[in-house]
Amino acid sequence: MRILMVCLGNICRSPLAEGVMRDKIGKYNLQAIVDSCGMGGWHVGEAPDSRAQQVAKNHGLDISQLRGRKFSRRDFDDFDIIYAMDYENYHDIMQLARNTWDRQKVRMIMNEVYPNENISVPDPYYGVLQDYETTWEMIDEACEAITKKLQLNDGVQF
Ligand code: 4NP
Repeated sequence: MRILMVCLGNICRSPLAEGVMRDKIGKYNLQAIVDSCGMGGWHVGEAPDSRAQQVAKNHGLDISQLRGRKFSRRDFDDFDIIYAMDYENYHDIMQLARNTWDRQKVRMIMNEVYPNENISVPDPYYGVLQDYETTWEMIDEACEAITKKLQLNDGVQF
């Protein structure tokens, strides 16, 4: 299973999601590949925001090596599931989809915990460290649910 985490800048939410998901995959010994990217190109090549790095560190994860990149149509070919952090990201990814096959890969990440509710992970960029902690908690909850799903059906029926 190849999983792509997508947000707007690829320096706050999606790098956290990449780090958390990769950590769980390792802990549960699952076979999956995870990457992240942003819909905007402002932070290409940059490390995650210092506040995202700090919150990850507080939870025992080092995400300092991750670097920003922008979503491209090729990602529809390179990944099996594309998780949008919020509804705007979801909408923007869907606009770039070429066909039904592309579209059915795109999900709102919190729907893994609260199906069909389309809950967004709020953008913490203009917030404070506590907002990043909330981001962490939401993402951790979602990644735990994804992990369970991967364990249950080995990714065949996602
Ligand atoms: P992210 O947060 O989408 O969670 O990485 C943002 C980071 C930067 C910007 C927007 C959102 N920005 O506009 O630069």
